[in-house]
Amino acid sequence: MKRAGAHQGNALRLGKLGVEKKSVTRITRRRPLTEKELRWEITYPQLEKAGSWEKVFGRDGDLFLEVGLGKDTHLIEQARFAPDALFVGLEYSRKKMEKLLFKISASGGQDNLRIVHADAFRTIDPAFPDGSLAGAFILFPDPWPKARHARRRLLQPKFLALLANKLRAGGRLEIRTDDPDYAIEASEALESAGGLRRLTGDLPYFEEPIDSGAHLPTLFEKKFARLGKRIHYFYLEKSVTSDVGSI
Ligand SMILES: C[S@@+](CC[C@H](N)C(=O)[O-])C[C@H]1O[C@@H](n2cnc3c(N)ncnc32)[C@H](O)[C@@H]1O
Repeated sequence: MKRAGAHQGNALRLGKLGVEKKSVTRITRRRPLTEKELRWEITYPQLEKAGSWEKVFGRDGDLFLEVGLGKDTHLIEQARFAPDALFVGLEYSRKKMEKLLFKISASGGQDNLRIVHADAFRTIDPAFPDGSLAGAFILFPDPWPKARHARRRLLQPKFLALLANKLRAGGRLEIRTDDPDYAIEASEALESAGGLRRLTGDLPYFEEPIDSGAHLPTLFEKKFARLGKRIHYFYLEKSVTSDVGSI
């Protein structure tokens, strides 16, 4: 697995949003994306030019964000189930992101969904105004267990505080992880994130979905379920007043 800024043989060249440029060339040589497939991607400069997500989508709607899509179709399914809402996914790997563009296109497209090839650490703040998100998902983030990779962990106080700030009052944050150590780290990080109320009461997480009827499992989740692994499901809501310690 590569990490941003890593130098493995050929030095990786990082673009404005910290994404790896080398893989773009590799994919493009094999089979360039068609215009039809690229329609579901939005670049940060395109967003800047449009000025807002409403302008990108051509309409208003509750805005949902998923960070770290991989090749999984969770967000495509969410977008299908809620056609009035707007969905944005961030994925750091160009290769995985392009696979998703293929999937979206092959299934007939999804007007209320856009994918951004970007590093969430660098993109969320400029791309999403404070209080703009109706919901956010972080599903099976890479745990980055080595101490020297800790800065890449999504479930760390600084990143979760940033994300909490982007949620509007009543907005929801859903996190899933199979990693027990990462679950403990996430529980602690969420306590310091501020303004988030647990929907799991006194428990930091549930060991099953809060609403199994509405639950959409991801690729990693299905794999972990087959292996009989325990999953940690976190459900949080942004408080009306951002009172730190409400968790
Ligand atoms: C373990 S996979 C999980 C994929 C999917 N959510 C699932 O459950 O099947 C984690 C994904 O997060 C992406 N990722 C990791 N750090 C990221 C970051 N800072 N910004 C955007 N994507 C990131 C990785 O490239 C990878 O595709």
